[in-house]
Amino acid sequence: MAKTPPTQPFFALEGIDGSGKTTQLQHLEAHLINLGYKVHSTCEPTKNTIGKMIRDIFAGKIIADQHVIAALFCADRLDHIYNETDGLLEQLKTHAIISDRYYLSSLAYHGAHVDMQWVFESNRPAMNVLRPTAHIYIEMDPKVSMERIAISRQETELYENLENLIAVRDAYEKGISLLPHEETVIRINGNQSEEDVKRDIIKAVDNILDKNH
Ligand code: TYD
Repeated sequence: MAKTPPTQPFFALEGIDGSGKTTQLQHLEAHLINLGYKVHSTCEPTKNTIGKMIRDIFAGKIIADQHVIAALFCADRLDHIYNETDGLLEQLKTHAIISDRYYLSSLAYHGAHVDMQWVFESNRPAMNVLRPTAHIYIEMDPKVSMERIAISRQETELYENLENLIAVRDAYEKGISLLPHEETVIRINGNQSEEDVKRDIIKAVDNILDKNH
């Protein structure tokens, strides 16, 4: 299918588990709405069929190899992009988009378990068709994330232990270094208060919007 050039900005929020992405997504959404954008907020894994299958794997209902999990995320992402009703390409015609995770998450989470280059190549179909205006990476100390997760949740998910969060943080760095230079990665210090993180994200986003739109 031919690529439709996006006419609206697309921000992908990234960070290890417990980095506060979901809260910050809501702040950014409110800010963009204030600026006059119609906003479509979304997430990966998606809430569609493949996303549900991934959540079943995380819940231990289905057992799958790490390569299979990584490949399912690629399939879920392509559905996220191409889906005719709520797909990103369709939504970008009229809406600014904020996605809670995109392909940088795959490099970080699967690159920590299987060969990073393999993960990179598997994500090429998504990268080639739709790169975000910017990846907003909320950098967090894994120990602080782990403490937040322990306080806020009763059960921790598949990837939520300290050793793994450190591996994912390191894989984020490696993943970012593999991205082509024209991709924009905004680093935000996540070890600050919610208000300070919000301020830094909004400042960076405003900067990009002034330049590009
Ligand atoms: P998360 O944003 O933490 O959702 P929630 O807060 O609802 O649990 O994402 C769920 C998990 O999915 C998270 O541990 C990271 C993982 N993930 C991958 O392993 N690969 C991917 O490509 C993506 C997008 C997410």
